[in-house]
Amino acid sequence: MQSFWEKLPKPFFALAPMADVTDAAFRPLIAKYGKPDVLFTEFVSADGLFHTRERAKVKDEENPLMRDVKFSEIERPIVMQIFSGKPAMIAYGAKLAQELGFDGVDINMGCPDRTIEKQSAGAALIKHPELALELIRAAQEASPLPVSVKTRVGYHYEILDEWIPLLLSGEPSAIAIHLRTRKEMSSVPADWGLMKRAVALRDRAGSKTLMIGNGDVKDLEEARVKAAESGADGVMLGRAIFGNPWLFSGRPASGITPAEKLVALAELAHNFEKLSPPKSFATFKKHIKAFVSGWPEAAELRTRLMDVTSAEALSAVVQATGLDL
Ligand SMILES: Cc1cc2nc3c(=O)[nH]c(=O)nc-3n(C[C@H](O)[C@H](O)[C@H](O)COP(=O)(O)O)c2cc1C
Repeated sequence: MQSFWEKLPKPFFALAPMADVTDAAFRPLIAKYGKPDVLFTEFVSADGLFHTRERAKVKDEENPLMRDVKFSEIERPIVMQIFSGKPAMIAYGAKLAQELGFDGVDINMGCPDRTIEKQSAGAALIKHPELALELIRAAQEASPLPVSVKTRVGYHYEILDEWIPLLLSGEPSAIAIHLRTRKEMSSVPADWGLMKRAVALRDRAGSKTLMIGNGDVKDLEEARVKAAESGADGVMLGRAIFGNPWLFSGRPASGITPAEKLVALAELAHNFEKLSPPKSFATFKKHIKAFVSGWPEAAELRTRLMDVTSAEALSAVVQATGLDL
């Protein structure tokens, strides 16, 4: 059976997974205002899902991990991203992704967080290629969903020539490459020159795996240029979505009016408050900073909004601006 990956346009544009940003509150807004060709959930611990659901018997409605993998139909195609260093846990996560109705499952092999790396997960897998392959196989065997991988170009230094062929031998449907090493974190610019090489490695291997480039792309126009220059099948955009759910519509950010931004922010606050179990409103402040910026009175309004602790209070402050909302 054809997976959704094979039906995507070329090039296609993906929303990057971002913990506490591209959550179940923000994703529906992104799908509504400018829909990417494919969305990813934030990463979720497969071990955590297993332990909370199967051992501690936490009810799904009360489980924050299950909240993070909720999605609505308008977000399709949507991929659930999981992390673990254990094949059995990846298998559990992949099976659950299928039960929950996801279109695909993605294994995180790029996260630099120490607590995740200690579990031999995330970027640590770049140092344990055999385990990385086992995880891909475990996911493929556990569910019929297409399996993808999101990774980096190396750990201490760039090792594309070894790492990409190894991943390709596991026949994932797609590989998204954040074009930095683990060591580089986000401190140096993403090296898009490497994407061309990654695509050539795929072509040389005669593989059908789709190659997705990621890092520092600010809008769709730039994404198109990057895809054309590198030959990437798709481009994944992350931080550019901050405060700009119109990103994938192609509308220039400079053309979005303050009123539009505030209406979207109020809608996001409303979605955020409906999350169950709830998240602290403090997590929402980053959205306020990102949305309320770019016009003369924004700084003052932002200061006022920083004190609000509910969607209702936020809407009241927004209404009081006198803007034609
Ligand atoms: C706040 C934040 C949270 C992130 N969470 C995840 C995550 O859950 N899974 C993942 O694979 N990458 C995660 N990333 C990395 C992004 O997916 C992406 O690879 C990185 O931001 C580079 O792309 P960009 O320059 O377009 O933002 C996160 C990045 C940020 C800024």
